[in-house]
Amino acid sequence: MTFVRVCSENEVPPGEALRTESAAGPVALFNVDGEFFAIEDTCSHGQWSLADGYLTGDKIECTLHMAKFCVRTGKACTLPATKPVKIFPVERRGEDVLVDFDGGRYAA
Ligand code: FES
Repeated sequence: MTFVRVCSENEVPPGEALRTESAAGPVALFNVDGEFFAIEDTCSHGQWSLADGYLTGDKIECTLHMAKFCVRTGKACTLPATKPVKIFPVERRGEDVLVDFDGGRYAA
């Protein structure tokens, strides 16, 4: 596991997202009421950024065709998306938020 610092926690307030590039492709980081989650940024339905979507609770809605994904599990919750996106391990060190970009996986 190689955790890489992505941001400071106050750079992404609750309800907000941050898109970051990595060797694994773009990754979206979300703040859900102070808890951070990282998922593949590209919607599994098309080439669209999920970090640009609308976050409600732990669900992110893609702005292109309105599919929703759970940012905890990466699972597609609503059509038209049927495939999940990968999730990445997140760690907090002090005020820093780190992501293990090598640890991307589909939830069981
Ligand atoms: Fe995201 Fe179609 S590209 S729902």
